[in-house]
Amino acid sequence: MENDPMLDFFSKSNWRQSIDRFKLSGMNLADEINALNPAVVVDVGCGFNPFKNRIRNLVGIDIANESADIVCDLMDAPFREASVDVALALGSINFGTSHDVSAALAKVAGWIKPGGFVYMRGNPGQEVHPEITIFPWSAENAVSIGRHVGLRVHKPVQEETIVDAWGNRITRLFWIYRKD
Ligand SMILES: C[S@@+](CC[C@H](N)C(=O)[O-])C[C@H]1O[C@@H](n2cnc3c(N)ncnc32)[C@H](O)[C@@H]1O
Repeated sequence: MENDPMLDFFSKSNWRQSIDRFKLSGMNLADEINALNPAVVVDVGCGFNPFKNRIRNLVGIDIANESADIVCDLMDAPFREASVDVALALGSINFGTSHDVSAALAKVAGWIKPGGFVYMRGNPGQEVHPEITIFPWSAENAVSIGRHVGLRVHKPVQEETIVDAWGNRITRLFWIYRKD
């Protein structure tokens, strides 16, 4: 995928992370996830891999950022079915159509062990780049898309608004899925 705006925008040399600014979907998650004593955690679309060495047993994957442990599209990631305790998808399952988002979430849901969790930060439809299509997450479609892929909303959608590292005021949604 040469000249893919996603790869350029999210590259290590261009993108600026704002993870320290999110109260709900930021670094505070490390203690909560470590308390679950997970054997395997995947940070899907990890960007600069901020949870590395802060969450135990974590593997960060990213399609565009070389700070990841594995640089790959999540659709090609090498995890077996029902082998992962917790996945983080903080800003990474936000792109394309509802079909694209459902397919990505279904892929991640497949890795999760029964009783495991997926931590989500979704974009409610705010532009990040003129050539990148954002899927507009909402409290309603978080429930319906989750149900479609076998994930139940465990912690309902909450909004958080921050000024990001680019100086833009942005709102994001945070929720947690559980796989039954
Ligand atoms: C908004 S950034 C968030 C990064 C990080 N999770 C954080 O909160 O700082 C979204 C990340 O998801 C990655 N990403 C998007 N689509 C992806 C895919 N299909 N497979 C793997 N990574 C993807 C991007 O490259 C980017 O680094």
